[in-house]
Amino acid sequence: MQPKPYVLKNGQTVTLREAIPEDAEQLIKHVNTMSAESSFTTISPGEFDMTVETEASFLQDCLNAETQLYLIAVIDETVIGALHFATGKRARVKHSGEFGLSVLKAYWGLGIGSLLLDELIAWAKANPIIKKVNLRVRTDNERALTLYQKKGFLTEGNLKAEIFDADTYYDLYSMALFV
Ligand SMILES: CC(C)(COP(=O)(O)OP(=O)(O)OC[C@H]1O[C@@H](n2cnc3c(N)ncnc32)[C@H](O)[C@@H]1OP(=O)(O)O)[C@@H](O)C(=O)NCCC(=O)NCCS
Repeated sequence: MQPKPYVLKNGQTVTLREAIPEDAEQLIKHVNTMSAESSFTTISPGEFDMTVETEASFLQDCLNAETQLYLIAVIDETVIGALHFATGKRARVKHSGEFGLSVLKAYWGLGIGSLLLDELIAWAKANPIIKKVNLRVRTDNERALTLYQKKGFLTEGNLKAEIFDADTYYDLYSMALFV
């Protein structure tokens, strides 16, 4: 994929591209910042234990895999958003995969999540193997739910007490888009 620049509502330019091994250090920083800013992901602050080497190797594996995609959003050479999608490896589950998405809080509401998702959906549609894109989202994550519904994702299930955070159990919606 060629890097794709977009002008945001605030006049800044964001570039979407596939992550490469050289992005490892920045991506570790991104995950650590994002996990401290939002409790809507499964990673608690300080829990992400990838080293630069293991993250770089993971990113290379993503580039090599035909049904995996690691997209990043970059502003002024800094990673401010990331989306990772992967299907199962075996033949019976290779058509269906799940993604995780995050944008740094300072950049919420500018359309970056929407751009990353559009890119994933276009890539998945063009991939002859992939038929289904899944996600799981906390039922109280209004911003993410609005975004997914706008893109046509439908709720397939309500998974009870899947998340435990600050003494409270939270439900997840399982959502999917057929491509
Ligand atoms: C969810 C997330 C990826 C959205 O990214 P984003 O770049 O802010 O998303 P966008 O700006 O493209 O779109 C967000 C949409 O949410 C809606 N929205 C904005 N504020 C909202 C609010 N307070 N309540 C409900 N919906 C809201 C808007 O409709 C907006 O779309 P629009 O601008 O086209 O009207 C981002 O908030 C994030 O990283 N959150 C923390 C991690 C997370 O929750 N990840 C998803 C886990 S499933």
